[in-house]
Amino acid sequence: MLSELLLTELARPGLTDKLPLHRKLYEALRSAILDGRLSAGDRLPSSRQLTLDLNMSRNTVVSALDQLSVEGYLSSRVGSGTYVNDHVPKAAARRQAAQKSRNLQFSQRGQTLARNFCAEQLEVQPFTPGPADFSSFPVALWQRLQNKHWRMAYPEMLDYNDSGGYAPLRRAVADYLRVFRSVPLEQEQVIITSGTQQSMQLCAQLLTDHNDTVWLEDPAYWGAAKAFMANGLKLHAVPVDQHGIAPRTLDDATPPRLIYVTPSHQHPTGAVMSMARRDQILSIARKHKAWVLEDDYDSEFRFSGPPISSLAGLDTDQRVLYMGSFSKVLYPGLKLGYLVVPKGLASPFKQAHYDLNRPGQMPLQAALAEFIEMGHFASALRRARQSYAERRRSLLAALQPCLGEQALITGAEQGLHLFCVCPTRSMIWTWHAASGHWV
Ligand SMILES: Cc1ncc(COP(=O)(O)O)c(C=O)c1O
Repeated sequence: MLSELLLTELARPGLTDKLPLHRKLYEALRSAILDGRLSAGDRLPSSRQLTLDLNMSRNTVVSALDQLSVEGYLSSRVGSGTYVNDHVPKAAARRQAAQKSRNLQFSQRGQTLARNFCAEQLEVQPFTPGPADFSSFPVALWQRLQNKHWRMAYPEMLDYNDSGGYAPLRRAVADYLRVFRSVPLEQEQVIITSGTQQSMQLCAQLLTDHNDTVWLEDPAYWGAAKAFMANGLKLHAVPVDQHGIAPRTLDDATPPRLIYVTPSHQHPTGAVMSMARRDQILSIARKHKAWVLEDDYDSEFRFSGPPISSLAGLDTDQRVLYMGSFSKVLYPGLKLGYLVVPKGLASPFKQAHYDLNRPGQMPLQAALAEFIEMGHFASALRRARQSYAERRRSLLAALQPCLGEQALITGAEQGLHLFCVCPTRSMIWTWHAASGHWV
């Protein structure tokens, strides 16, 4: 029965199409474990049996099973077989939730979302790329600033806000982006959101219709896939190489309405988008009258090499919407980010944000504006850069001798993780800046 399930999974077109066979098998098994089709304690057929059932080589099967064991999804008991591990996250609970969603007559979309809940696994597993080390965040200072702004809060500060966010915060963001990211913008174009997730949702809600297509990098940030999926978009995977997203002629047959990219540090491979690719993306957007969503999620951390400018800075056509977040430099629970939209979209976006999201949190935004104005943001950034650079240096020094020449490390000049492919061991490792460890 497991073999049938795997054969069906493997035949399904999707984001894993271009992966080698052992990796496809790994993905198929992993998703069966995560979405509860395989439960804790379930026994897998022997690798010999799987080899026969799936008509694959023994190496392919063993490589996939080994990888799942290394990552803690499976464990072997001598003389007894291979089992799904007990601590694999809440598979039964997830299955129940999906079942419940069907019983509650969720919409098709609701059921798809319930079947694919994944944040828990993708974030809680060790060394997930992305999370920052916010243990040195200046809590006492932050508390003082918050108290001050709460004391001063006049009634309007406690109301919803229809102006795209607290004006001094929007000004501070605009000043930062003009200088450090070469984005030519006016304060009016900045909208304060509750983070990148909300920025993406807003773009999807205002710029697309149901069943429109969004081009996503393959592999891509799962949070982006979720935001677009939740808004009824069709996901079209475009491969990534060492120069970032690499559209092929055949992709033109699936014209995009949105193109989501992470040009300064592709998530997760770490590739920096080359100038030729930037031109290509902008010209594809022009040709298809599509919008480009630039997620500049960790551009603040550049450790070596020339500075990388933003894609928005090259856009002469008003087709790029730029998204940033305070989650990496400050802390994720702050839930504040920003969306920069082309001038012509600024006013309708602000109004739609007000209608759809009823934004507020003015005292919090005021405290953040003062935090930036007083230079504390710059200090926090300096401290974080130093600390991550130090960890990165030690890691690279320790790695080079033990990984050998065939290992390929990418994305180490920038951001909170680096990416390592070890062909001989069929493994992909990602370094995680906050813990300084590997997965
Ligand atoms: C690729 C990417 N974009 C954006 C974000 C930030 O999202 P948010 O602002 O919603 O915290 C993250 C967080 O991990 C990320 O990995």
